[in-house]
This record gives sequence, C-alpha cells and structure tokens, in this order.
Amino acid sequence: MKIAGKSYHTIWLDDNDEIKIIDQRWLPHEFKVVALHTVEEVARAIKEMWVRGAPLIGVTAAYGMYLATLEAQEKPNSAKYLQDSARELLETRPTAVNLQWAVHQQLHAILNADSPEESVKIAFDIALRIKQEDIEVCRQIGEQGISLIEQISIAKSGDTVNILTHCNAGWLACVDWGTATSPIYQAHDKGIKVHVWVDETRPRNQGARITAWELGQHGVPYTIITDNTGGHLMQHGMVDMCIVGTDRTTRTGDVANKIGTYLKALAAKDNDVPFYVALPSSTIDWEIADGIKEIPIEVRGEEEVLSIYGKHEGVVKQVRLAPENGKGLNYGFDVTPARLVTGLVTERGICKANEFDIKKLFPEHIK
Ligand code: MRU
Repeated sequence: MKIAGKSYHTIWLDDNDEIKIIDQRWLPHEFKVVALHTVEEVARAIKEMWVRGAPLIGVTAAYGMYLATLEAQEKPNSAKYLQDSARELLETRPTAVNLQWAVHQQLHAILNADSPEESVKIAFDIALRIKQEDIEVCRQIGEQGISLIEQISIAKSGDTVNILTHCNAGWLACVDWGTATSPIYQAHDKGIKVHVWVDETRPRNQGARITAWELGQHGVPYTIITDNTGGHLMQHGMVDMCIVGTDRTTRTGDVANKIGTYLKALAAKDNDVPFYVALPSSTIDWEIADGIKEIPIEVRGEEEVLSIYGKHEGVVKQVRLAPENGKGLNYGFDVTPARLVTGLVTERGICKANEFDIKKLFPEHIK
C-alpha cells in the first residue's frame, strides 16, 4: 500500500540485505524505518510492538529465524542455538498463532539441513515465501470479502456502506492489503462508497493511531470513535457491517482478537448487524476447539492502561491518566465465540464459523 504516494511493505530487505521494518510505535506522528540485525533485536521488536498484528508477527519471526541461522554459524552448538532462538521468539507474544506457525516451519526445515550454509539458504527462502504468501493471501481475502460490501451497497442503492472495525487488521498488521481492510480497500478502489467507523482500541490505540492513518493514506473516509460508541451506532442503524481481524481462530470458529472485540460482536448480534472476521488460514489453530479455555491470552504491563501516548507541541510523549498509585490490568485479547460470528472471510472463500464449514474450505485438515 502507499504512504504519501510511495509503495511500501511493512518489512523488506534493502539493497544491502538489511531487514527493514516500519517502527509502528511512533505512528501516526512519526514515520520511522529501522533495521533489525540480530535475532535478539527481532524478539525485542515483536515484544515491544515495533511490529504487531498476527500475520506481520509471523513474517518478522520467520526473518528472525533467518538471522539465527547466520548467527548459529559462529556457535559451537548451532542446533542448540537455533532451538534457543526459536524459544526466544516464541516467548515474545503468546496469542497470535502465526508466530508459532512461522517459527516451527523454520525450525523443522533448518534442523534438517545438511550444512550451516544450506540452513541459511533454507531459512531465507522460507521467510521470503511466508512474506510473499501473506501478500497474496491478503489480496485474496479482499477479493472474497468485497462481495459482502457490494451486496450491502446494492441494497442501499449505492449509498455509503458504513463498516465498523476494531484494532488494526490493516496492511500494517500484515505485509500488504491487511485482512479486515483488504475488502474495504478493494471496494473503495472499485468505486463503491464506503465509510469506516474506527474503534480507537484502548489501551494502545491501534485503531486511532494506525488504522485511521493507513485508511487516510489510501483516501478511504473514516471516523474514529471511542471503544464504547459502537453499540450506540448499531442501535441507530449507523453500522451496516462489522469486520475485524483475528490472532487465533479455533478449528470450530472461536475467534481471539484485540480486547473489546467480543463486546462489539455482542452488540452486533443484538442489533442484527453482520459480524465478519477476516483471516488468512495461517491464523487457524487446528489443534484446539474451545477458544475461551484454550487460547492463551497475553497480559501486558499495567502502564499501557494507566497512561497514554500522544503528541504535544511537536513532541510524542507518554502522559499519566490514572492516580499516581492506581493499579491497572491489561488483557491484550478476548475470545468471541463462534455463535456470534456471521462468517469467516478467508483466502479460499467465506464460510460459517463452525468446524464442518471451515474444513470444507480446508479439507487437507480433515483427519
Ligand atoms: O496487539 P496487536 O496490535 O498485535 O493486535 C492486533 C490485532 O488484534 C489484530 O486485529 C489481529 O492481529 C489481526 S491482524 C490482521
């Protein structure tokens, strides 16, 4: 997608083969590109959310494993170094299953390599493949999901389709296109009138900071709302559909996504507003069936709740919101049960959120 008219991915190799990322902590106020040189730096960038969003976490970790193969060449026990590096990456963020998916693919392939040189080549190729597949899969999610927006537009005789989204499931959470935003971008590009209600998404405000910024860069009309506003809008017919992303979806269709997603799904159900979840199949955890019991939910530091970042007089800074000795609790995600999900928008099509229909689209996972 484009920033100030120039095409970017969220992660790329520059002309000197350095891994570059957009450091998302500073958006929308500052656009910073940084290089990641070591597996330790990659782990830090994921944990501290320089990069974030399930698909991008997976791609970045895959490049982390590539760096680990380079570093392993200097170590007396390279297999142990690779396993330790994989563990370091896996421990950064527990909820997004794409991280495990990418790191396990890498580890399996490189531990079976015949030489250290071969393991470097294999890891590089896998990281590049995972990145390129993510771009293509997100494009396909848009191609599948655009029909949902088109149908509403036709039913409204071409009037603006109002879409609510939560957090950032945009291209900055992936490599390009985004998941939830891909149908929106493709509808907008096709001339369908869309407007996006952007939940601010406390505490880190990925909606207000990142989704708003990327939609604006692409010229998609949007309005930022507080997280508590969606239900009111739905009661007043101001939301035609919701579409969100996911960090992990069970094979039965339960969806873990940014904290607060569940409340939006409840409000949508109560108001007969369709609630869609867009996802690449790399976000499906085929091993688990009960999202509430089995999906690990990240708990982050309380300071994210007790304070807020913003720009004041040209300087981006953190200010305290809560009493000096106030306590906070910061769950990063919640689980929306499958019964509240109208449909899953995947790269292979749209299906109901249940095991039978998901496996009809992905029969290779029928055991
Ligand atoms: O904590 P974050 O910013 O990594 O959370 C991101 C989300 O919850 C996204 O909705 C999810 O990863 C889907 S991204 C296409």
